Amino acid sequence: MAAPQTQSRKSARKTKAAPDAITLLKNDHREVEDWFESFEKTSSAAKKGKLARQICTALTVHTQIEEEIFYPACREAGIEDDMMDEADIEHDSAKKLIEEIEAGAPGDDHFDARVKVLSEMIKHHVKEEEQRDGMFAKAKKADLDLDDLGAQMQARKDELMARM
Ligand SMILES: [Fe+2]
Ligand SMILES: [Fe+2]
Repeated sequence: MAAPQTQSRKSARKTKAAPDAITLLKNDHREVEDWFESFEKTSSAAKKGKLARQICTALTVHTQIEEEIFYPACREAGIEDDMMDEADIEHDSAKKLIEEIEAGAPGDDHFDARVKVLSEMIKHHVKEEEQRDGMFAKAKKADLDLDDLGAQMQARKDELMARM
């Protein structure tokens, strides 16, 4: 009688396993897209400040796990350097803007404009990653262990989030 219970507890734990690499990264994309949308809709300075912080933190961690784990794996799997180089440069531009946003506050000169431009940059970058024949599509076709990469990125993400 105890056996089925043990079994169900085990499988419940299993469902909490890390998502595969592409699912994890896409979930991150959807999360910040929602926050950018909420930022645009609200006129409350407190809400804007909170959302901007959430966006900057999430994007900092997201770009870092991509750069440390996913992008090198993509390069190694043969995804062309041109595509990967462009992604690196787009990350660099986003990071500069994130730094400026983090140094400011709602109501500051150009604060909203910076968040808006960041959202446009990220929209473009996410499209390059997710579109047909984009980086993620190529990663799926390449010889990559997406489950293992997902587990590595989830662990690193948890570690980084705990520090922020
Ligand atoms: Fe991404
Ligand atoms: Fe990226």
